[in-house]
Amino acid sequence: MATLKINENEKLSHIAPEIYGHFSEHLGRCVYEGLYVGENSDIPNENGMRKDVVEALRELKVPVLRWPGGCFADEYHWKDGIGPKATRKKMINTNWGGVMEDNSFGTHEFFELCRQIGCKTYINGNVGSGSVREMSEWIEYMTFPGVSPMADERAKNGHPGPWKVDFFGVGNENWGCGGNMTPEYYGNLYRRYQTFVRRYDKAAPIKKVCCGANVDDAFWTEGVLKTCFAQPQPDFAHGFMDFLSLHYYVHPGGWKHKGSATQFDEEMFYTTMAKALYMEDLINLHGSIMDKYDPAKKIGMSVDEWGGWYDVEPGTNPGFLYQQNTVRDALIAGITLNIFNKHSDRVRMACLAQMVNVLQAVVLTEGPEMVLTPTYHVMHMYRHHQDGDLVRSALSGVKTVGAGSAAVPQITESVSVKDGVLTVTLANLSATDSEKVALELEGGDWRVCEAKIVASGDIHDFNTFERKDTVVERDFTGMDGLTATLPAASVVELRLSK
Ligand code: AHR
Repeated sequence: MATLKINENEKLSHIAPEIYGHFSEHLGRCVYEGLYVGENSDIPNENGMRKDVVEALRELKVPVLRWPGGCFADEYHWKDGIGPKATRKKMINTNWGGVMEDNSFGTHEFFELCRQIGCKTYINGNVGSGSVREMSEWIEYMTFPGVSPMADERAKNGHPGPWKVDFFGVGNENWGCGGNMTPEYYGNLYRRYQTFVRRYDKAAPIKKVCCGANVDDAFWTEGVLKTCFAQPQPDFAHGFMDFLSLHYYVHPGGWKHKGSATQFDEEMFYTTMAKALYMEDLINLHGSIMDKYDPAKKIGMSVDEWGGWYDVEPGTNPGFLYQQNTVRDALIAGITLNIFNKHSDRVRMACLAQMVNVLQAVVLTEGPEMVLTPTYHVMHMYRHHQDGDLVRSALSGVKTVGAGSAAVPQITESVSVKDGVLTVTLANLSATDSEKVALELEGGDWRVCEAKIVASGDIHDFNTFERKDTVVERDFTGMDGLTATLPAASVVELRLSK
């Protein structure tokens, strides 16, 4: 039996809701079909947005949505996506399947989607193939409140008032698809481009995201921060940036042969668990470099692309990155979100890749049908951590499961408190064994007021359009006082009150 000691009176850091963010790229069937079907579709929609998907996302309490990419962002020219749809310029989506992009989902549609979901906006600008002027005019178009050429254009296109851009990314993966730059080169471009990302809304200034590293590329983090981190400026409380990003995907079989989303043996399962746990090493690695420049932790780390990435489902377009989502993905989500909570002093935003029909999606669609994935249900349970305070907690007596380089601790956890209610989330990484976890609290008469679980009999289980409820959130009945018996391969949420 393992023990989870909770010091509920010791608050360590605030859990920014944005840690539970999402990412939607013009890639495959994420934006088109998944989120947006157009006003004339037979699929029930409001202003072109699928009603079923939006409703599911509202239920998830999505805090923030990143758009339009990804690699797509550095080829996106925003002016192609405004004005009458019939005359919008068409382009080739060279990154993702070489398909035609008709730009029918553009700036206005993105803000409408976020309005319907009820989330903050995170827009990613184009540094790789876009000009400073283009970026600066986009900001003016979206956020300038008075009379100006771009604000007038926005009004002409049906939106007189400014929108709120909460976060703005200055380029994406500029070490790779965003221009194959060196850190110093990008760092200098970042200084220049971000200058023209004007903060017209002084009361709620746009928060700027600088492109950070791929996986363990400490050279990039060091080089970028050396070049463009600046001590507080008159207009920038935190120097030139508010966030530095990090991208990390779990490829169980490696980048070239990632492996199937649904068919894997136990060894591959544990390899996946070990690779999900690696997120913590990466946060420590890049966080320690950030600490050198920014010991007060004013800059947040934004892990704005994370999740499992497998071979596409057989028979689907390889450029569309469509994959199924099993109990294994529920565990990736449970493990990763526990890590983010534990590091919420530095990690202040994260976006699961991606929202619908792409990579580790929370929703899959097929025509008018929609199915929620195991990952959806885990994120739904974990929503109670949003805006909570992380409290000190530690496990003891945890067994090791798996073997060799894929030997992993059986249990991971995180605990937060909000409005006097504790939220405890636990993941059991064993493919085969249940385990008891005894909760030990500091004091008071805590009792479990809600207990939920995402699990299934088999680590390969997933939901289909025919059978949507194989892996869903259910009531958890494995409590005996304050001792939980976690079934094999499960993610559990316990809520405790006095
Ligand atoms: O999410 C898919 C792609 O992965 C994104 O476009 C890119 O930023 C990353 O390499």
